[in-house]
Amino acid sequence: MRWGIVGHGGIAPTFIEAARGIGHDVVAVAGRDPARATSFATKHSIGSSGCDVSELVGEVEAAYVCTPHSSHRDVSIALLNAGVPVLCEKPMGVGADQVRQMVEVARSAGVFLMEAMWTRHLPVMATCRSWIQQGLLGEIQTVEAAFGFKAPYDPTSRLWAPEFAGGSLLDIGIYTLVITELAFQSLPVSLDAEAEISPSGVDASISVTARYPSGGSAALRSAINADLGRNASITGSKGRVDIPEFWRAEKMTLLSPTGEEVDEVHHPHRVNGFEYQIAEMARCLDAGLMECPTVPWAWSVALAALMDEIRSRAGIVYPSDKEARS
Ligand SMILES: NC(=O)c1ccc[n+]([C@@H]2O[C@H](COP(=O)([O-])OP(=O)(O)OC[C@H]3O[C@@H](n4cnc5c(N)ncnc54)[C@H](OP(=O)(O)O)[C@@H]3O)[C@@H](O)[C@H]2O)c1
Repeated sequence: MRWGIVGHGGIAPTFIEAARGIGHDVVAVAGRDPARATSFATKHSIGSSGCDVSELVGEVEAAYVCTPHSSHRDVSIALLNAGVPVLCEKPMGVGADQVRQMVEVARSAGVFLMEAMWTRHLPVMATCRSWIQQGLLGEIQTVEAAFGFKAPYDPTSRLWAPEFAGGSLLDIGIYTLVITELAFQSLPVSLDAEAEISPSGVDASISVTARYPSGGSAALRSAINADLGRNASITGSKGRVDIPEFWRAEKMTLLSPTGEEVDEVHHPHRVNGFEYQIAEMARCLDAGLMECPTVPWAWSVALAALMDEIRSRAGIVYPSDKEARS
């Protein structure tokens, strides 16, 4: 498939490596500044670069949007209205209202849209789902997940600025919610959230406690000011699954209630892990789908609404929230 990418920052080379690694082409890049976009294109042997996403139309079969969170909606809607299928980085929009708007445009334009929640496409996650469905863990009782790293404080950067919808929850805490939803197969019935708000006004760290219809609970933490590791455990009445580096998982262990190893899966990435979502989007387009069964639109809306709820509990406010209220 011929891809264009919008945004050429930290994550873009990972996408390019995965796409090319499974035989796709990356033929165009768009950014806000022509010199920066051209320099990126040259470095990564991409033939075309520019500042206007309309230049991608006719050149590409699909676009990967990897701009800061605050611009996902507008960039994606411009592409969808031009008929370009979109794989949009997480979180798909800043809040459920933005995600709903994107979905509405995709639906009325009849163009494919998918949130780039690559974790859901990993083979290890398919096995985890199957273990849970087979009852190997019994009734799910608790999920514990943490994702934290220490980033230098820079109030103007994507991670720390409220104008970019920065903070730990939307950037990496989102993955702890994804693994919890996979375990419980449902949204929480109630939750509490407490954040450490940075001087810039985003969550430097956040703790979320959530309770599920089955009676189970989740304890989730994320931080951009502390190393919390990146591990998840799902504990059920019959056993526990430990997933190291769960957002990019390549392996997972099933343990008995007394802690003995029962099974282990090891599924090394073919490239870097992004290839699974890229291949799945190509499959969906071949099949004439507008949304992906693994990351359906309703799932993205529900995830965004859950993060809205967590933000409201923890007092995390972005400038774009005013627009949602007006
Ligand atoms: N899946 C993962 O594992 C993973 C990992 C990291 C990040 N991400 C996600 O990927 C996205 C980007 O993160 P990143 O770390 O790559 O960010 P980044 O390093 O800050 O790069 C953002 C890029 O977007 C460009 N840009 C900013 N506003 C734009 C606009 N309105 N239109 C077009 N281009 C624009 C910036 O270039 P100019 O400033 O030159 O315009 C820059 O090239 C975020 O959604 C993040 O959550 C995902």
